[in-house]
Amino acid sequence: MLHNHWNTTLYEGQHGFVWQYGEDLLNLLSPQVGDRILDLGCGTGQLTDKIATHGAEVMGIDHSPAMIEKARQNYPHLRFDIADARNFQVEQPLDAIFSNAALHWVKEADAVVSCIDKALKSGGKFVAEFGGKGNIKAIVQALQDALMELGYNSPGTINPWYFPSISEYATLLEKQGLEVTYATLFDRPTPLEEGSTGMANWLQMFFTSQFLTELSSTQQTKVIQAVEERLQPVLYKDGRWWADYRRIRVVAIKHR
Ligand code: BEZ
Repeated sequence: MLHNHWNTTLYEGQHGFVWQYGEDLLNLLSPQVGDRILDLGCGTGQLTDKIATHGAEVMGIDHSPAMIEKARQNYPHLRFDIADARNFQVEQPLDAIFSNAALHWVKEADAVVSCIDKALKSGGKFVAEFGGKGNIKAIVQALQDALMELGYNSPGTINPWYFPSISEYATLLEKQGLEVTYATLFDRPTPLEEGSTGMANWLQMFFTSQFLTELSSTQQTKVIQAVEERLQPVLYKDGRWWADYRRIRVVAIKHR
């Protein structure tokens, strides 16, 4: 189960790539002055702020109270609320919903898409990027193997994230009545922080602190070391760790 207690200092200090890559996605959003836009899964608010600089009326929501608290501190002039992507509502229909690196955390994608559809106005646009099919394949495999070796898991059972293929996600959007105008799935090997601790920090931030909360910190460290050992030959290059990210990007329009 997702623990939803995030270390925002670690997130902002060492995982800035999360929103730095997302800046590119803003071109697909193309926010216009006065557009009403929701940033779904806004984290600590960096991209919400970027959207606001285009003159849009933007609001960020996130499931994590810690992220929202940090976003409010970072950008006190913007509106941020705690909300669940599976069950959110907006006061007035939106011109666009934007989401970067968030939707892979929500397995109930049909509930998310239904909320998105309800929140958009006719002609409104959904623009998202998140982990797609095959995302962090080597990391997931190493986690499975390490957890099994340490006696915490049985084969093939680690799958806490939602990483859909294009056809799977486009079908979901179309079933909801949205028109998919753009979809792509691509590899984006992503450099983690320089030096030897990048993978341990990534695993701590995004896996052990979320899914292995019942283990002691010594046990968590053992898991992390076992994963690092397995990944070293494939994901440690030129003095740093890399995450084997694959992104799905979509744009869909509501016509009704
Ligand atoms: C991702 O951005 O693809 C991701 C981040 C943390 C955990 C899983 C996937």
